[in-house]
This record gives sequence, C-alpha cells and structure tokens, in this order.
Amino acid sequence: MEKETYTSERKINDLKRVIEKAVYGEDVSKYDIALMLNATGDEELNTIFTAADEVRRRYVGDEIHFRGIVEFSNYCRQNCLYCGLRKDNGKLERYRMSPDEIIASARRIKEANISTIVLQSGEDYSFHRKKICEIVDRIKAETGLIITLSLGERSYEDYLAFKKAGADRYLLKHETSSRLIHEQLRPGASFANRIKCLHWLKQLGYEVGTGIMVGLPFQDENSLAEDIIFMKKISADMLGIGPFIPHPETPLAECKNGDVNMVLKVIAVARLITKTTNIPATTALGALNPALRVKALCAGANVIMPDFTPREYKELYDIYPGKTNKNCNADNLMPLLKETIGSIGRVVG
Ligand code: 5AD
Ligand code: SF4
Repeated sequence: MEKETYTSERKINDLKRVIEKAVYGEDVSKYDIALMLNATGDEELNTIFTAADEVRRRYVGDEIHFRGIVEFSNYCRQNCLYCGLRKDNGKLERYRMSPDEIIASARRIKEANISTIVLQSGEDYSFHRKKICEIVDRIKAETGLIITLSLGERSYEDYLAFKKAGADRYLLKHETSSRLIHEQLRPGASFANRIKCLHWLKQLGYEVGTGIMVGLPFQDENSLAEDIIFMKKISADMLGIGPFIPHPETPLAECKNGDVNMVLKVIAVARLITKTTNIPATTALGALNPALRVKALCAGANVIMPDFTPREYKELYDIYPGKTNKNCNADNLMPLLKETIGSIGRVVG
C-alpha cells in the first residue's frame, strides 16, 4: 500500500515537472510527451488540463473564434480506410455544390458575424484550378471573408493560384506522422507527398493548419508524441485534433472509437508545447458528445467550427457516424455555444 502511494506521488511529481518544462518553453523530449499522454485518473488529468488552460489564456486569450465550414463536394479520389467519403464507398450518394450555392453559404456565414469561411471537400479534382480560383475570388469580392481552403493534396501550381486568387489559409491534416501507419491507412497515398504539400503551403505564405486523428489502429503514446513534435516542428498555425470514429461502410468498421481522454490530453499537450496555435474543439469530439467540446475548450482549445453546409447536402458529408447529426450544424450550435461560452468565462472572438 505504502509503495503504491509513493509511486503515484512520484508519478504526479514527474508529471508536474514535465509540464513545467513545457510551460517555460524548455526542450521537451518524446518521452516527456509520452509521460504526459500516459496520465490517468482525475488528479493527473486535471493537472494537465489546468496547465493547458492557463497557457491558452496567457498566449491566445479568452476569445473563442468561430469558423464557418462549407462542405461543397463529397467526391473523393482517395480511398482512406477510415473515411466514409472514400471512393470505394458505393453506398454514399455524391454531390457537388454549384458556385452560386457556395457563395450563398458564404453570405450566411457573413450574416452570422463570422469572419472566416472554411471551404472543404474530398479530393475532387473536377473543382479544377480555375474553378476554385473563381470561387475564392467571388467570396472575397462579395463577402470579404478570410478564406481557408481544405481540398487535400494538389499541385504547387494549384496552391500558388489559389493564394493569388485570395485564399489566406490551408488546412491539410497529416493524420498521423508515422509513415507506416499513414501509408497503411491511406492506400496509394504517399506520406512524403503530404509533407511536401505542407511545406509548399508554408512557403507560399498560407497560414497552415494540420492535425491528426487520435485512436487510429496501430497508434500509441509514442506515435502521438511524435505527432505533437511534428506539429511544433512545422510551426503550424492551426491544429485539428479529433477522435477517430469508425464508419460502418469502411474497412475499419469493427474498430473502436478513439479514447476521448486521450484526445483531450493530445489537445492539452499540443497547447502546452505550441502555445500560440489555434486549436479547435473538433466536430468529431462534439459528435461523440456535445459536452466534450466544452471540455476541449477548457483543456487548451480556442476555436469552434460550425457547419454551414446546406441541409440537403450536409447529411451526405458522412465522414464518420454522428458527423451529420443536428448538434453539429450551425443553426442549432450557434445559440447553444454562445450561451456556453459565457458560462465558462470566455468571450466570442
Ligand atoms: N473519424 C474521425 N475523423 C475522420 N476523418 C476522416 N475519417 C474520419 C473518421 N472515421 C477526418 C480526417 C480528415 C478529415 C476530412 O476528416 O482527419 O482529414
Ligand atoms: Fe478523401 Fe479526406 Fe476522406 Fe481520405 S479522409 S477519403 S482524402 S475525404
């Protein structure tokens, strides 16, 4: 018994020491990060979440920023084993929004007093360079919104043209920084190419978002620690960190949901290590349980991304179960969130 008390006391002291190192910006090793990710029990978890919340307050303040998402096409040329949009999912009805429909959604975002639009789709090359540039140009001219694109891997020339047309930010999650896991779960895709895309985007002056799923097959604390180091190294501006949620029409249907405490720990440690990044309380967390969004906001997150995709399409952007349910869409989410934000002492950005 005595031995046990000693061990848990020592563990929490080790944890506090590593957190302090991270808070003061000292070098934190992969093993230090894995130690934080191995925290268990209320006391250890609260120690990490409270420290991350404090760092969040100090470096990015109490504002919560909203980004309006428009999912304008669910076609995808890729076949990621985890995703409901994968090209081999023949059961999914596919859609593409017209440019006019996309602009109308952008206007709704503007009317909701949100300053950033995130245009997201599967890797759908029928939205070719010129078409995306025209859409970006029209959104800028007609709404003045800050534009984040999230269209997957494209050519350098495409990224350059989108930037010239007025795109400000690009979101491309690396999903996992383990090349082996990455390539196993994304058949035909190359990890090196994804990283090359991220470097191009940085070079071109985009604000870059990257991120991961937590709970993928073969992932463990060590690979998650490497993910966090990767996020720091690439000096991303934004980090999307959410649970993996198995989709029934994919080869990973029989897997388990990502562990939500692990997601919260990764968010918290990413905040401790990267300090000034924007970190959303991801839709995937909210899809598992709306209360988890609030938990994420109290463990380092500072962004929320309500979905402004028109109702008739939203249901079809079925990446993972729960994604299309009502509590993720803007009409239901916005009033609820504004209330919650005040109750946790935060303000709308
Ligand atoms: N569970 C959670 N997130 C997923 N994504 C894809 N499939 C899943 C899933 N089953 C995320 C990936 C991708 C984004 C479009 O959705 O991180 O970047
Ligand atoms: Fe396509 Fe992205 Fe889904 Fe992979 S995760 S199948 S690239 S939409």
